[in-house]
Amino acid sequence: MQKEKYRTHWCGELGLDHKGTSVSLCGWVHRRRDHGGLIFLDLRDRSGLIQTVIDPREFQEVFELAKSIRGEYVCQIRGTVAERPEGTANPRIKTGEVEVRVSELKVLSESRTPPFPTEDDINVDDRLRLEYRYLDLRRSKPLNNLLMRHKVALEVRKFLDEKSFVEVETPILSKSTPEGARDFLVPSRLQPGQFYALPQSPQLFKQILMISGLERYFQIARCFRDEDLRADRQPELTQIDMEMSFVHREHILTLCEEMLSHLFRTVLEVEIKTPFPRISYMESRRSYGTDKPDLRFNLAIVELSHIFTHTQLQVFGRTLEEGGVIRGIRAEGCADLSRRDIQGLEDVVKQFGARGLAWFKVKEDLTVDSPVSKFLSDQEKKLMVENFEARAGSLLLIVADREEVVCSSLSNLREKLGQQLGLIDRDKFSFAWVIDFPLFEYDEEEKRLKSHHHPFTRPTEESLVYLESDPLKVMADAYDLVLNGVEIAGGSLRIFFPELQRKIFKILGLSPERIEKSFGFFLKALEYGVPPHGGIAFGLDRLLMLMAGEDSIREVIAFPKTQSATCPLTGSPDYVEKEQLEELGIEIKELE
Ligand code: AMO
Ligand code: AMP
Repeated sequence: MQKEKYRTHWCGELGLDHKGTSVSLCGWVHRRRDHGGLIFLDLRDRSGLIQTVIDPREFQEVFELAKSIRGEYVCQIRGTVAERPEGTANPRIKTGEVEVRVSELKVLSESRTPPFPTEDDINVDDRLRLEYRYLDLRRSKPLNNLLMRHKVALEVRKFLDEKSFVEVETPILSKSTPEGARDFLVPSRLQPGQFYALPQSPQLFKQILMISGLERYFQIARCFRDEDLRADRQPELTQIDMEMSFVHREHILTLCEEMLSHLFRTVLEVEIKTPFPRISYMESRRSYGTDKPDLRFNLAIVELSHIFTHTQLQVFGRTLEEGGVIRGIRAEGCADLSRRDIQGLEDVVKQFGARGLAWFKVKEDLTVDSPVSKFLSDQEKKLMVENFEARAGSLLLIVADREEVVCSSLSNLREKLGQQLGLIDRDKFSFAWVIDFPLFEYDEEEKRLKSHHHPFTRPTEESLVYLESDPLKVMADAYDLVLNGVEIAGGSLRIFFPELQRKIFKILGLSPERIEKSFGFFLKALEYGVPPHGGIAFGLDRLLMLMAGEDSIREVIAFPKTQSATCPLTGSPDYVEKEQLEELGIEIKELE
């Protein structure tokens, strides 16, 4: 048997069409069942499961061998496909109408008992899953996510190739590219004391490729960012990175919409609606408290500051005096929530820095009930009900604070209510472009301006006049794409004049020496005939997470890191040999 082909068919492809066919199959024993004198081995390979049957009356030796076989042994079998006896078909699996009657069996390798079953719907600690990721990936859900990842990458390449894009690999050992995270550094042996930085994105290389006349670049690019991890953040991420010359914003947005339509159609068989709605950054913050709104449900935030300019309610009055804002959310049909439930909502906003949550239950006659009711005038209450467009049974939830705090606490409250009230349709894909970003934001901690996206983003022509006088007023030609409340892509048109680029670095607080040292090579390149250009990068991991209906990008990455950026499978990061450090001229300080 071993001289011949290991397999003639995949387990998962067999069906009634193969009835009577003699087949060789290879795979893992998913389960062994001894039943009425017969042994059933469910054999599994990448394509699926097939039931195989061993009958001692026909093949005594095979039967004896089969008795010793346990889960996850790797076996090769030969046999004949047969229709399952009446009443024993299993409609839950693809191959459920047939079985293979085994005539030959070979154990190719044995397995220890796995620490968890290779079944879906198991409840296993994430760390253990990652330590035994090879077993975890035998389960169909993680496996299917990898297959989907392959398919998406393939379709991206097909689509972009069709549109005349060229895939170019850019260096991994490189120089710092500022995307707002910390760099991972790699010490150089040949240049002692010097370091490469791993790319946070291929930003500068892709712009340089435009200067070199490549016109349309893409790359499925690995990027590295040393930042605190969350469900949608890994230290290594993959971007679908794109750059184009001689384009306006519209070209880029339309191309992205076409690409996503193509991906959703070919991979998920889902038709998405284009063009995607657009919302300005300001409007998004005002109505949803965030620049990545989940538009699967409405529930907008309502501005109320103007109602309370002369209020007797201290928390509101003081907030306005201190330059803060008062905004709220109307929870439909929630007037009957208990104090305890409302306390739960207050806890949500408090997590995000709010000092409290004022609440009002709207009664049949549209008057309101609230512990703070007596501090508000009838006129204030009436205007509040009107502004909320409240109905009997509404619960009005209000936060008064600095705008930052109001936005983050209400956006999280909105998300919580969306879930609690069952407003979120899990099968829906709600895309939106967020546009009209400010070019800079003020960093309170560092007391300086920072780029909202990155320093290569082009200011809009109309707002360029404020660059020196009032930089916070300058708007950017930038855009983010949001899907179901997750930022899945970000990009911009780029600066293509060296003087303007230099000026931006200066406004960001970089000294002339620092500009020269970090970006001199790029400023030089900008002097040699630069086409107007722009681009975008999709977070492939995030896009896949949403396409696969997962809650974390870890589920769509073959070998992800834990929350603390470690790999339980290989044990990285790890200490290295003293000699290796000596070669690099590195000494480790005593660790605490
Ligand atoms: P940006 O920094 O917005 O833009 O990154 C683009 C997209 O990459 C994804 N992403 C991440 N995914 C997982 N883990 C992370 N730590 C992580 N960080 C970012 C997000 C994000 O929208 N060079 C620019 C693009 C450009 O201007 O063309 C850039 O990198 O989905
Ligand atoms: P206090 O007067 O602090 O006991 O607060 C009275 C009510 O107002 C409580 O329901 C608080 O949760 C609420 N509250 C307090 N601070 C704020 C605030 N900044 N915004 C909205 N409601 C608040």
